[in-house]
Amino acid sequence: MNEVRIIGTGSYVPTNRMTNDDLSQIVDTHDEWITSRTGIKERRISTGENTSDLARNAALQAIESAGITPEDIDLIIVNTITPDAFMPSTACMIQGAIGAHRAVCFDVSAACTGFIYGINIATQFLRTGQHQTALIIGAEVLSKVVDWNDRNTCVLFGDGAGASVLQGGSQKGILSIYVGSDGTKQELLQCPAVPVQNTYIPARANFSNAMTMNGNEVFKFAGRIIMESIEKVLQNTGYTLEDVAHIIPHQANVRIIEYAARKLGISPKRFYMNLDRYGNTSAASIPLALDEMVRENRIQDGDKVILVGFGGGLTWGAVLIEWNQNKK
Ligand code: ACO
Repeated sequence: MNEVRIIGTGSYVPTNRMTNDDLSQIVDTHDEWITSRTGIKERRISTGENTSDLARNAALQAIESAGITPEDIDLIIVNTITPDAFMPSTACMIQGAIGAHRAVCFDVSAACTGFIYGINIATQFLRTGQHQTALIIGAEVLSKVVDWNDRNTCVLFGDGAGASVLQGGSQKGILSIYVGSDGTKQELLQCPAVPVQNTYIPARANFSNAMTMNGNEVFKFAGRIIMESIEKVLQNTGYTLEDVAHIIPHQANVRIIEYAARKLGISPKRFYMNLDRYGNTSAASIPLALDEMVRENRIQDGDKVILVGFGGGLTWGAVLIEWNQNKK
C-alpha cells in the first residue's frame, strides 16, 4: 500500500468584503452581537463568481504549489453544497477549465465536513495505486442559498474555496482518518433542492431553497463532535494531543471551538482560526485555513496536524497528518 501526502495547497476568495456593519444595513443586527456570539468580523461575498470560478482559482494555486501540471492529475473531487449545476459536476467543470484531461471527476456532498470526506475518499484510491495524484477542492458560494432576511443565519456564512493536491508514494503524510454521519438529525441543518413538481403535481407557491438551521442544537453537536473526532483520529496511532502542532477546525464559530478546547483540556490557541475574516465557508473553510497556514510558513515538515470538520447531514470527521509537503 502507498503512503499518501499533501504536496500542494491553494485558496481563493472573492474580493468583495462584507463587514458586520454592512450586514446591519440589511438585517436587524450589529457588530457587537455578531462578534461576541460568533467571532466573525467580515466575510467575502461573491458579486458574480460562481462556485466553479472560486474552485478553479484555488485549484490552479494548489497545482502551482505542488509543482505539477494539470496533466499529472488523475482524480478530481470537489466537495460542495452549492454547485453551479446539478449536472455537470463541479469537478468536471474544473477538469475542463484547467485541462486535467486524465482525471476522473466527481462531487461529494458532506456539507462542512466535505473536505475531510474528500481526503478520505482520495486516500483510499491513492493507497491502492488506482490513482496517483488527486486534486481535492472545497468550494462554496453560500451567499446563493443564504436567506438574506434571516439574521439567525445570514451573519454566519461566507464564500470561498480551498484546494489540496494529494499524491501516493513512499513518503508518509495521512496517518489516520475518522469519519461519521447521522441521518436521523438531518433537520438540524437543511438546504432544499428543487421540490417534486411535474405534470401530476403543481408548483408549490411558497417554496424556498434557503438554508435553515437549529443554531442551538448545532452548537451542542459541534462542540461534542470536535472533541470526539480528535480523540478518535488519534486512537491507535501512538500519538497524543501533545504531539500535535496544529489543529485546523471547520471555521464555524469561535465559541464552538473554545467549548471543544475546554472539553479537551487544551488552550483554544492550539486551534487555528481565520473565521473572523471569512465567516463559515462550509466545505471551503478547512482547506482555506490550511492554505493560509502553509503560505505563512506556520507548518513545518514533520509537524503533526489535525483537520477536524462537522456539518449538515449530520456529518463529521478528522484527519491526522504528518506534514511532509517538501520531502522528496
Ligand atoms: N443579531 C442580533 N440578534 C440576533 C441575531 C443577530 N444576527 N441572531 C439572533 N439574534 C437574537 C435572537 O433573535 C435571540 O433573541 P431573543 O432572545 O429576543 O429571541 C437572541 O439573539 C439569542 O438567540 P440565540 O439563537 O439563542 O443565540 P445564541 O447565543 O445561541 O447564538 C448562534 C446563535 C450564533 C447561531 C449559535 O447558536 C451558534 O453558533 N450555533 C452554531 C451555528 C453554526 O456554527 N452553524 C454552522 C455549523 S455546521 C455548518 O457549517 C453547516
